[in-house]
Amino acid sequence: MIILGINAFGYSPSACLVRDGKLLSFCQEERFTRFKGSHGMFPSHTVKWCLEKHRLTLQDVDLIAFSWGCRKFPWKMLRHLAKVRLKLIGQSTFSYKSSIHQRSNLISSLEHIYLYSPSTIMRKTRDNLRSYGHKGPIPPIEFVDHHLSHAYQTFYQSCFQRASVLVVDGSGEEKCVSGFSFTENGHSNVFSLDIPQSLGWYYSGFTSYLGFRPNRDEGKMMGLAAFGEKRKENNPWFEVFDKILKVTDNGFELDPTYFKFGGNEYHPRFTDKLVRLITSHNRDLQPVGVDELIDFNGKKNHKYLLDDYVNLAYAVQTRLEEAMASLARFLVKKTSINNICLAGGVSMNCKVNSYILKDSGINDIFVHPASTDDGSCIGAAFYLSKEMGYNPRNILKNVQLGPSFKNDEVEKTIKRCNLSYSIPDDISLEVAKLIHKGKIVGWFQGGCEMGARALGGRSIVASTMFKGIKAKINSNIKRREQWRPYCPSISSKYKENYFKEPVETPFMILARSATEKLLSAAPDTVHVDGSVRPQTVEETVLPQWHSLLEHTQQLNGHPLVLNTSLNIRGEPMACHPYEAINYLFTTGLDALAIEDFLISK
Ligand SMILES: [Fe+2]
Repeated sequence: MIILGINAFGYSPSACLVRDGKLLSFCQEERFTRFKGSHGMFPSHTVKWCLEKHRLTLQDVDLIAFSWGCRKFPWKMLRHLAKVRLKLIGQSTFSYKSSIHQRSNLISSLEHIYLYSPSTIMRKTRDNLRSYGHKGPIPPIEFVDHHLSHAYQTFYQSCFQRASVLVVDGSGEEKCVSGFSFTENGHSNVFSLDIPQSLGWYYSGFTSYLGFRPNRDEGKMMGLAAFGEKRKENNPWFEVFDKILKVTDNGFELDPTYFKFGGNEYHPRFTDKLVRLITSHNRDLQPVGVDELIDFNGKKNHKYLLDDYVNLAYAVQTRLEEAMASLARFLVKKTSINNICLAGGVSMNCKVNSYILKDSGINDIFVHPASTDDGSCIGAAFYLSKEMGYNPRNILKNVQLGPSFKNDEVEKTIKRCNLSYSIPDDISLEVAKLIHKGKIVGWFQGGCEMGARALGGRSIVASTMFKGIKAKINSNIKRREQWRPYCPSISSKYKENYFKEPVETPFMILARSATEKLLSAAPDTVHVDGSVRPQTVEETVLPQWHSLLEHTQQLNGHPLVLNTSLNIRGEPMACHPYEAINYLFTTGLDALAIEDFLISK
């Protein structure tokens, strides 16, 4: 039974192939199109790659699993939207001018409902597959509820036999929060919250307010919030926030008229009512424009770095953590299962995940590394596999399920570029020696990683022992904001030495507190509040990546490297050797270790 999982036309299009319940391959479309996120597209390249990799054609596919419950469109969703709008009449205030924007929000909601009706999706899927040369009949398309897809994705890639499963994102079809109880025998829905009770909307609303891009820069917002930690006693926003997002015993209550339901002069992600609320407490806190700069002691820097905006970001993040922990506590109380699996875009917030682990009576946690919609196609395919009688258990250890390249393919590419190279006996040792001398090296080994983090497949590595290495990577390679820290990859054997409350965190999705030792060995990987987002590396899972850490330890005493993704700001991670070579010659990278080959400048 071959199932092609597809996440298309929304956020982070992706595809995967599952045979008899086993996940064979997965990739995000952006890695092929080179267009960050590739939102709204169909994963044509990924489908083609998945099939070709396993020498299959579309005729070999038994079912297509689409991770969106299109059967609810249009009528059920129209009824739901009408109900929500009727309930909010009188609550959302707007001016004559801003009502134009409110009408355009309504029109875009209606367009969305039309786009996801089964006949439209089937036609668009067929057209996209045909245009990429797939012949013959299109396999039957089954639509799987979006939150159920997320839930299957995370439960069946965890190692838990039983788990509470919490899914929180912007929204699925109509659901914004879903709590499930899962065992090997099946699942039951414990509770759910519908549109407009969306924590994703809340967070991306404020992400936009502070001048970041929604559905892309939420991680920056989380990073900015950490600067407010030291001033938390004097933070004026907590009381104000009770009007916006109130934490309750069984989760939270959100007032949606501050976000999508109401007129907006500034941004479709938040309403004028939110601007009025914020500026009535501090009239200087107008919404920030993307990349808006102001003068800081004679130097231009981002406006959102002003103390007042930082305090606001801190309150936004803290309230999200409390709301998520309350949801988790409530779910565990209902299911009596204290292992929890998370998925949905909000679980990409590693501070939230740590807070849940610390404050919700949880025994253990699994967070799927592709928790935004990219990973939902895996869950949809798992769901159908289970329905067909297969066990979709795929414990996730190694995330390098994307395109990989053999040595002969890499050599051909290098030669086509007229480049000279060497083939060291031990590429890990060679890279360790280079970074020990202060060089910054591209690391291209094995398959592309799933999710947003570089975890040993497409990385940029450097020694953490050099003062100013972060500034050098920021200005010469990544071109990203100087205030953001980088992450360390650490041998799992030594995690106790480098972060407090040591747990395995192989996917960089849990924040930890740095020990003094980490602070002195790798200051550029510790954020201003003392937190760190490490990757723990097990020798059995990633032997070559681990070997780099061991060689580094022999040279400088610490089994860790600074690890960031092999890309530049605004671009997806490198996928093909050409892209890695391009980064070598268009940035300040000193060398590239690409499979067995070392290319130096
Ligand atoms: Fe989602």
